[in-house]
Amino acid sequence: DWVMRDHIAEAVAKIREQVGDEEVILGLSGGVDSSVAAALIHRAIGDQLTCVFVDHGLLRLDEGKMVMEMFAGKLHARVIHVDASAQFLGQLAGVSDPEQKRKIIGREFVEVFKAEAAKLKAGGAGHKGATFLAQGTIYPDVIESGGAKTKKAVTIKSHHNVGGLPEQLGLKLLEPLRDLFKDEVRELGVALGLPPEMVYRHPFPGPGLGVRILGEVKKEYADLLRRADAIFIDELRAWKDEATGKSWYDLTSQAFTVFLPVKSVGVMGDGRTYDYVVALRAVQTSDFMTADWAELPYGLLKKVSGRIINEVRGINRVTYDVSSKPPATIEWE
Ligand code: XMP
Repeated sequence: DWVMRDHIAEAVAKIREQVGDEEVILGLSGGVDSSVAAALIHRAIGDQLTCVFVDHGLLRLDEGKMVMEMFAGKLHARVIHVDASAQFLGQLAGVSDPEQKRKIIGREFVEVFKAEAAKLKAGGAGHKGATFLAQGTIYPDVIESGGAKTKKAVTIKSHHNVGGLPEQLGLKLLEPLRDLFKDEVRELGVALGLPPEMVYRHPFPGPGLGVRILGEVKKEYADLLRRADAIFIDELRAWKDEATGKSWYDLTSQAFTVFLPVKSVGVMGDGRTYDYVVALRAVQTSDFMTADWAELPYGLLKKVSGRIINEVRGINRVTYDVSSKPPATIEWE
């Protein structure tokens, strides 16, 4: 539409003016905000932008592939894919405390990103070196960090955030989404040609599957969880609500699978199994501060549970989380 086209033209002009002939680095996570920021900045300055996508080994099934196909493949943006999964999993080995896990993931993320940014800052190979760090900060983030000082000092969960990075890196900040609300960011993303599945995707926490594998994180657990979660999400997308015609994916605010490192007994064919348990979590919320568990249709739950148990060898039991927030949180860690 016209309004959006004008908005894009204006935003592009502003970015060009701010950046001039300098170069920009952006940390691409695959989430809505960094994806839309990347698409917009790429529209404005093309190869003067380099995206850094850090794979911490705790992403969802095929997520790295999808991000690369979209940004490097379709948009022809410069994207550096850093496979740091061995480093992250190595640092997490033997650690089961949720806060410690979050801190390790946050710290490693900063380390890996800083190392890549330092290389890009140095330039070379036809590039003179980056002077800007772009971030997908949106208006609600601006308000939240301003109001943070008045919040209670109790930390329920330490959030993975990259605050302070521009100063540490000696880079200027570029935040083209600073004035936009989430809905506007989504519309902008669609107008820039990003697929709606990407732009309307449920939020995914920075520490990724690291907070959805209870206790110690192991590659074996992450692999099982990725496959089970992909089945749950596929079925949520496929299952339409008759009254509204919407999919259950769109009717929930966030839905995912949690890996429980406990084994229970089951029976399959003539044999006994002794395998892991997963929990399905689906919530409805307007602000993520409080949330209700979603009343998913039994037929959907039945299909998901049947598929996970039949298709993912190593999981023989599926449970559904019927806890609201508060007192439970949305993520299990
Ligand atoms: P909780 O579990 O606290 O989650 O009810 C509320 C919302 O925040 C998301 N979340 C995170 N997002 N980094 C993020 O970017 C994090 O460390 C993090 N922890 C929780 C969670 O997925 C939910 O949407």
